[in-house]
Amino acid sequence: MTVDFDAWMQDTQARSERALEALLPKADTVPLKLHEAMRYTVLGGGKRVRPLLAYASGELFTADPQTLARAAAAVEMIHAYSLVHDDMPCMDDDALRRGKPTVHIAYDEATALLVGDALQAQAFEVLAASPSMPPERLVAMLKLLAQAAGSNGMCGGQAIDLDSVGLSLSLAQLERMHQLKTGALLRAAVLLGAMCGKQLDAHEQAALETYANAIGLAFQVVDDVLDATADSATLGKTAGKDAAANKPTYVSILGLAPSRALAQQLRDTAHEALAPFGEQARRLRELADLIVQRKA
Ligand code: IPE
Ligand code: IPE
Ligand code: MG
Ligand code: MG
Ligand code: MG
Repeated sequence: MTVDFDAWMQDTQARSERALEALLPKADTVPLKLHEAMRYTVLGGGKRVRPLLAYASGELFTADPQTLARAAAAVEMIHAYSLVHDDMPCMDDDALRRGKPTVHIAYDEATALLVGDALQAQAFEVLAASPSMPPERLVAMLKLLAQAAGSNGMCGGQAIDLDSVGLSLSLAQLERMHQLKTGALLRAAVLLGAMCGKQLDAHEQAALETYANAIGLAFQVVDDVLDATADSATLGKTAGKDAAANKPTYVSILGLAPSRALAQQLRDTAHEALAPFGEQARRLRELADLIVQRKA
C-alpha cells in the first residue's frame, strides 16, 4: 500500500464520517437517549471498510456522488447495527467495541435493541431518500441491501453462527456461515457503489461479484485469525472470544497458518477478478490488500 492510498483512505473515511454525521438523527431531538445512542454507536470509530469499498467501486464506475454517499452510509449503518446486536448478552456478550463500552453497557439492553432496530430502518430511509437516482435503480439497490441484511444474508449467518457453538462444521458449512454473516454486507457495499454509476455489462458484473465474494470471505477469515492472535487493545474489542465461546472458526477448523494462506489466496482471486478493469480498479485492489494485511 502506498502513501497515495493512505491519503485516499483518510480522505474517504472523512467523507464517510461527514455523511454519517449528517444522515443520522440529531442528538438534540426526541427521543434523546435513543438518538444519542445511535450516534454513539456509529460515529467516531470503526475502520469504515464497507464505505471505503462502496466509494472505491463507485469511483470506478463514475457514480452519482449524492447517491454514493447515501449508499455507503446505509451499509455502514446496517453494519453498526449488526455489531450492537452481536455484542448483546444473548449473542456474543461483549463489553468492548471500537475501543469503547458496547451499547448495552454504556446504555442498557433495551436501548441496544432499539439502536439496532432504528439504525436498520435509518439505513433504508437514507438510501430511499436519494434525490438523484432513477426509481427503478433505487428499488434494485434497496432490494440488494435488504437481501444482504436479512435471513439469506447477515442475519442468516448470525443464526448459523449461534447454532454452531460447540460444533465442528465442514469447510463448506463454515464458508457458507462466513459468506452470510460477514461477506454479504461487504459484497453489498461493492455492488451498491457500482449501482450508483454506469450500467455494467454481464462480464463486468460477474467480475465484480467474484471480487466481492472473495474479499467478503477473506474479511471474516482474517477476523478469525485476529481474534486468535491479536490483543484487545489493538482490536478495540475483546480478543480470544471465539475459542472461549467454543465457536467454529477458520482457525479452529483449518489452523492458523492454513487460514492465513487462505486469506492470501482469496486476495489473489480478488486481484485476478479485477484484471478486466485495469489500473482504474487500483483502489479496490488496494482494499483487498488492506483486508488481508490488516492488524485490527
Ligand atoms: C467486525 O467488523 C465484525 C465482522 C463482520 C467481522 P469490522 O472489523 O469491519 O469492524 P469495524 O467496523 O472496523 O469496527
Ligand atoms: C460478527 O462476527 C459478524 C456480524 C456482526 C454480523 P463476529 O462475532 O466474529 O464479530 P466480532 O469479532 O465480534 O467483531
Ligand atoms: Mg458473533
Ligand atoms: Mg462477536
Ligand atoms: Mg470475530
